[in-house]
Amino acid sequence: MIALGCDHGGFALMAEIKKHLQEKNISIRDFGVDRPVAVDYPDVAVPVARAVAKGECEKGILVCGTGIGMCIAANKVTGVRAAVCSDGFSAKYTRLHNDANILCLGGRVVGPGLALALVDLFLQTEFEGGRHTARLDKIRELEQSDR
Ligand code: RB5
Repeated sequence: MIALGCDHGGFALMAEIKKHLQEKNISIRDFGVDRPVAVDYPDVAVPVARAVAKGECEKGILVCGTGIGMCIAANKVTGVRAAVCSDGFSAKYTRLHNDANILCLGGRVVGPGLALALVDLFLQTEFEGGRHTARLDKIRELEQSDR
């Protein structure tokens, strides 16, 4: 199950992503927004991030104008590793090396063709583990000590 969320800046792109995932029979949990009305991106990013952090959803995709606001907000939730990507190399390597669990996209940055390719790369690529595990453990320790 993939958690989805967008604000008004990401609404049009999210409609394309939703259609793409549904065509691939990938199950989604839609956290809105369901209309292109102005919303504050943390109001959407946090419920999506919590669903991923709790394990209710395996991964998440957040879209705002730049992807950046969603990413900043989502990364405040313990256990979330959100990454803004606008190129294939980053979308692949943030899975391989960072075990990123939320992909953030900018609806005003990337077109739908590229965005769907980034979604596919992100969802299909597995974490490499190995030397990267110890690095993620350091981030987990930081999350615990900073509480
Ligand atoms: C909304 O205008 C815009 O600020 C938002 O979508 C996002 O880009 C924030 O990072």
